[in-house]
Amino acid sequence: MMDSSSNLVWHDGLVLRADRERLYGRRSIILWFTGLSGAGKSTLARAVEQRLYELRASSYVLDGDNVRHGLCSDLGFSESDRSENIRRIGEVAKLFLDAGIIILAAFISPYKRDRERVRSLVAKDDFLEIHCSCSVAVCEARDVKGLYKRARSGVVKDFTGVSSPYEEPVEAELVIDTGTLSLDSSVELVLQLLRTRGIL
Ligand code: ADX
Repeated sequence: MMDSSSNLVWHDGLVLRADRERLYGRRSIILWFTGLSGAGKSTLARAVEQRLYELRASSYVLDGDNVRHGLCSDLGFSESDRSENIRRIGEVAKLFLDAGIIILAAFISPYKRDRERVRSLVAKDDFLEIHCSCSVAVCEARDVKGLYKRARSGVVKDFTGVSSPYEEPVEAELVIDTGTLSLDSSVELVLQLLRTRGIL
C-alpha cells in the first residue's frame, strides 16, 4: 500500500512557534507523566496546571481517561491499542508544542518504545519524562476507581501492573515517589524542573 503521506507537504504558518513563545513570554514544552493507574499522574498534572495558571503560563492537561472518551474512543488496552493511543497523543502534544503551550500529558504509557517514539518526535529540549513512581501495592490499596479489584477478579482484562506489563523508565528526567510524597511537594519538584530548564 502506498504511503499517502508521501503526497503531502507540511505547510508552516505565517505565525511560528517562536512568535507564539515571544507573545506568551516563555517557551513551550511537553511534560510526559508516566506511571501506573492510581499513581497520581492526572492529579499531579492538574495541580501543576493550576499553579502554572496562577503564574500566567498557558498549559493544558491531556489525560488517558479524557482522551479515551473522544480522540481515542476506538481504542482498548491491548498492546497495539495502547501504542496507537500514545502515538496519537504524541502527535497532539507536538501540535500543542507548536501552539506555544506547555503540555502536561498524563498516560500510563507502559511501553518504553512508545514513550521513546514520542520523545523522538520533538527536539531534545522539548520533552521531559516524569515518572510517577508508586508500587502496585500502594496503587492497589488506594484503588480510587475500583479497577484493581475488578482486575484481580478478572472482570477487567489486561490491567497494567496486574495482568499487563509496565516498563519502568530508566532515563526519566524526574522520578517522583508519588507513593509517599505529598501532592504539594510533588508539584514543587515539577516546578523546580521547569525552572532549571528555563521555562519558568
Ligand atoms: S495507556 O496504557 O494507553 O497509556 P491510558 O493512560 O490512556 O492508558 O488510560 C488509562 C486509564 O484507563 C486508567 O487510569 C484507568 O482508569 C482506565 N483503564 C481501563 N481499563 C484499563 C486497563 N485494562 N489497564 C489500564 N487502565 C485501564
